[in-house]
Amino acid sequence: MVKKVSIIGAGAVGSTLAYNLLNRLKLQELVLIDIYPGLACGIALDLEDTRGILNFSTNIIGSENYSDIKGSDIVVLTAGVARKQGMSRADLFKTNSKVAVEASRQIKKLAASAIVITVTNPLDVITCIVNRQTKFDRKRVIGMGALLDTSRLLNIIYKSCRILPSSVDAFVYGLHNKDMIVSTAKMSIKGQKLDKFMSKQSISQVPQKVQLRGAEIVKNLKTRSASFAPALSCSVLIEAIAFDKSEIMPVSVLLSGEYGLKGVCMGVPCVINAKGADSIIEMPLSAGEKKAIIKVNKFFQECMI
Ligand code: LAC
Repeated sequence: MVKKVSIIGAGAVGSTLAYNLLNRLKLQELVLIDIYPGLACGIALDLEDTRGILNFSTNIIGSENYSDIKGSDIVVLTAGVARKQGMSRADLFKTNSKVAVEASRQIKKLAASAIVITVTNPLDVITCIVNRQTKFDRKRVIGMGALLDTSRLLNIIYKSCRILPSSVDAFVYGLHNKDMIVSTAKMSIKGQKLDKFMSKQSISQVPQKVQLRGAEIVKNLKTRSASFAPALSCSVLIEAIAFDKSEIMPVSVLLSGEYGLKGVCMGVPCVINAKGADSIIEMPLSAGEKKAIIKVNKFFQECMI
């Protein structure tokens, strides 16, 4: 049962996620941790003030001390520097990998049976670091990236053919970077191929629009990256765990031979339930998709050397 959720990093994603969780789940305790003095505490006080309207009994803590995550059922790692204009997610590796190592050490010490959700970029590499440092069963370390990319994909499809996401069977997998795999041939709308609803030209534009969406947001915001859609994607992942839904969602997990990869993480469809990413679903891949997947090892080598 999910009673306590801790969020490490009280920036835009962390604080929006905390607000979503108060609206969507009945938690016993919600903890926000941030090293920036007063930030987590201030956000926690502001969130507490929604109690009079939302009518929740959740105990909210905002602190600078990792010790407050003790006994958490779920820990979300959103801490680290965010992308600014002109930066790739890989540029963040140096700073954010240190954050991930320290957070993993604390999670292992204080919340050894927690499910960890990583949001910090470069997402798949950070997910790999948390796996290595905590040595948790890989089911309990889940990277939230492909789920966000999938929500972006469904929005782009909607804007092209005005069909609501609930009728569309489509998802993104692979790395949470510009090489993410957006395979329009695998997508369908109520069992029909996309070309029944969209022109060939619109379909051909879908992958690039999804791949560049995060950067498009950073370009506009300039000093920070997206927050509403990442935070909401994280909330639905937490709900799938909390309600033991066994829902299929694309998340980044440590691969151990699946998709021909070993010891690296990337987004793949997984069954999400109370155990975490309980099982990985392997899909048949086209020659083009297999080629795209080869880039995963290269990306990890570039980041981690
Ligand atoms: C994005 C960042 C959060 O895709 O990775 O917007």
